[in-house]
Amino acid sequence: MTTIEGVAAIREWRDGQSESKTIGLVPTMGALHEGHLSLVRCARADCDVVAVSVFVNPTQFGPGEDLDRYPRDPEADATLADAAGADLIWFAARDEVYPPQFATRVELPRLADRLCGLARPVHFGGVALIVLKLFHLFRPHRAYFGEKDYQQSVLVRRMGRDLDLGVQVIACPTVREESGLACSSRNQNLTERGRTIAGALARALLLARDRFRAGERDGAALVLVAARELVDPALTLEYLELVDPETLEPVERVDPTRGARLLVAATVERVRLIDNVQIGGEGE
Ligand code: PAJ
Repeated sequence: MTTIEGVAAIREWRDGQSESKTIGLVPTMGALHEGHLSLVRCARADCDVVAVSVFVNPTQFGPGEDLDRYPRDPEADATLADAAGADLIWFAARDEVYPPQFATRVELPRLADRLCGLARPVHFGGVALIVLKLFHLFRPHRAYFGEKDYQQSVLVRRMGRDLDLGVQVIACPTVREESGLACSSRNQNLTERGRTIAGALARALLLARDRFRAGERDGAALVLVAARELVDPALTLEYLELVDPETLEPVERVDPTRGARLLVAATVERVRLIDNVQIGGEGE
């Protein structure tokens, strides 16, 4: 595996790639765990060249969020990416990606201003901006995202279509710990007890899906089934919403063919956790 640093070097690398090879990109912020590695393996299975980008993107963190506390371990990332089958890992300095006078923004208000966007108003603009830059730098044929960050994957796919980026956006299933808790670098900040409490998120979502499978179609009734599982003084619910899988607009009654997505965000021990599940439709 090759390690490349900086913007100029990645352009040069890309210019040297053969036209006939398919390039898969896995964008990350590092501190790689099983969730990230599953994307690398997914890319390995269907691309000739697999690149992993590691950049803790400041524009997607709001004031007071955990940018400075975000875990960084480039050496471990390189070892893990290599073992998972990556051909290239890329790192870049903040000032090189966002030089002084940087002025451009990317906005997708209809998708970004809901769910996680309510508590994190600048977040998805920052994600869209960095992903667009990464797509220009790597010019990948395919890019791999995790369903764990469902709103992010919908938004990136939309941006790709809206702007004719020509990158196939692939969403891979959420990797979970044994308790069902979705893998996340932020899980490190939970105590054992916190992890047990956090396991309620995945349980709640699956209960709602079971109820759908048993014939319930009413959105409010499905949300209620999940909400009952999330009543715990140690857990602060941020949102629990059933939405259309593509537009992210609220769904009142689930059309079993179209399906819906149930998404949750909650805080346990000051750690913000998100999770989601497909209910009906093709993605289930
Ligand atoms: P990061 O949080 O590092 O995640 C990188 C990718 O790994 C994302 O596509 C995310 O959805 C995926 N991922 C994280 N946990 C996962 C899990 N448990 N199962 C499956 N996939 C998982 O998301 C970002 O970085 C950034 O916003 C980024 C897209 C890199 C832009 O800065």
